Amino acid sequence: MSKAMSRHQDAQLIPISFTLNGRLQEIDVEPHELLLDVVRERLGLTGAKRSCDVQVCGACTLLVDGRPVSACTTLAFEVRGRSVASDGKLHPLQDAFIEYGGFQCGFCTPGMILAAKALLDENPNPTEEELKHFMHGNICRCTGYKKIIESIMAAAKKMRAN
Ligand code: FES
Ligand code: FES
Repeated sequence: MSKAMSRHQDAQLIPISFTLNGRLQEIDVEPHELLLDVVRERLGLTGAKRSCDVQVCGACTLLVDGRPVSACTTLAFEVRGRSVASDGKLHPLQDAFIEYGGFQCGFCTPGMILAAKALLDENPNPTEEELKHFMHGNICRCTGYKKIIESIMAAAKKMRAN
């Protein structure tokens, strides 16, 4: 690659800093680079998955300042200065998904759990209808949703009791 081309490409990079699971990250990103690629490929956190790639299935969900976003359609530079969370320590929701069989292949599970966490942070005692409405963007190809709903409702009950 010529020096001129290299300089041209370097000029395209955008320096950003943000926290990922509480740790400060400072990284140069390309203007079109997706948050999902930065988190998975460059920062090595693979809990969020790529599936539909068009903001439909929820498998790529990350929390940005506590709100669920589809990392497959979020540009990395958009999280500059913000707090991004991926999978962390075992949470009551994760326990419940294990106990109640809320997953089969597990592909949708990180997104399901993060979306459910966002709901329970806002509304610790949702009705089943409220839960279904909030989670309608998260798609599961395996479970038929019944066990996912049971898992989230059980986790909500346990979290309210603590
Ligand atoms: S991969 Fe992002 S919503 Fe499906
Ligand atoms: S458990 Fe397989 S897609 Fe949901």
